[in-house]
Amino acid sequence: MKTRITELFGIDLPILCGGMVWMSTAPLVAAVGNAGGLGLLCGGIYTAETLAAEIDRTRALTDKPFGVNVPLLWPPAAELMDVIIEKNVKVVFTSAGSPKKFTPMLKDAGIKVGHVVPNAFLAAKCQGAGVDVIIAEGSEGGGHVAFDEVSTMVLTPAVCDAVDIPVIAAGGIGTGRQIAAAFALGAEAVQIGTRFIATNECEGHTNFKQKILDAKETGTVVTGKKFSPVRNIRNTLSETVLQMEGEGKSANEIMNYIGMGRTETASVKGDVDNGNVQAGQISGMIDDIVPVQALVERLIQETKECIERLGGLFKS
Ligand SMILES: Cc1cc2nc3c(=O)[nH]c(=O)nc-3n(C[C@H](O)[C@H](O)[C@H](O)COP(=O)(O)O)c2cc1C
Repeated sequence: MKTRITELFGIDLPILCGGMVWMSTAPLVAAVGNAGGLGLLCGGIYTAETLAAEIDRTRALTDKPFGVNVPLLWPPAAELMDVIIEKNVKVVFTSAGSPKKFTPMLKDAGIKVGHVVPNAFLAAKCQGAGVDVIIAEGSEGGGHVAFDEVSTMVLTPAVCDAVDIPVIAAGGIGTGRQIAAAFALGAEAVQIGTRFIATNECEGHTNFKQKILDAKETGTVVTGKKFSPVRNIRNTLSETVLQMEGEGKSANEIMNYIGMGRTETASVKGDVDNGNVQAGQISGMIDDIVPVQALVERLIQETKECIERLGGLFKS
């Protein structure tokens, strides 16, 4: 499958695994690359030193391209960029901040740059800042979501209409039908998160994966809507936070209650009642844990079948 995105990144398939804290570590990122897609390490848990080690660990598992996602609010973001350049990583996706600061220096180093956006206005601004691709991330997606709450169904075509550079659709994609839909909406690749957690190679805790398998499409909720919206699977933590929000508690009180490390509590330690189980609405359609290679083959097969079926709609 050739699109502007596969050409740009030198990959066979337009399927990307997004950066995910504690989840998109070397084994998953390498497996996605080996399957023909592109995986992104998640810079948001690393220091310069630990990111360098994770890049080496990834290279030991694959000789295929991979990237790093750097949330710009992450305090060591500037140091991570230096490591990425030194280590000759070829793709960086930035999120949660303005791409203006780092895009010129990354591009000078020959790195392809993408930025994650929640609306068409920001997409046009990112194009102006010189990024190579836009990742349009809809509100169905897992993890931190935007205040805007625009769904992938509306966001993708709106962003595609606002820019000339290629667009990657993200949020709520976990089957070939959804990949075909993303292409119909104008995207030239998809970035998948939650579906890739339910794979053998993902190093996230088994309890976290089980929460995804057990969830229905109504099983996630956005907490912190007024100060730091995060889509996560309903549990003791999310219910408590929702209750505090309902009672009108301040952002500070709620943040103090949550404290630090709740994502690690769920993802690494496996306490999925008191930890933050970041996952998207697509959890409701995920019912198996499979090797990445098998998942990617299935996604491509489903996409083909769907596009063939649609092609037949006007023949009769
Ligand atoms: C557990 C988890 C952690 C995530 N962490 C990050 C992150 O650190 N930076 C980022 O840009 N996106 C992050 N995301 C978003 C993903 O990269 C991806 O865009 C999103 O999961 C796509 O939606 P989906 O989950 O419906 O596939 C995270 C998503 C999940 C599920």
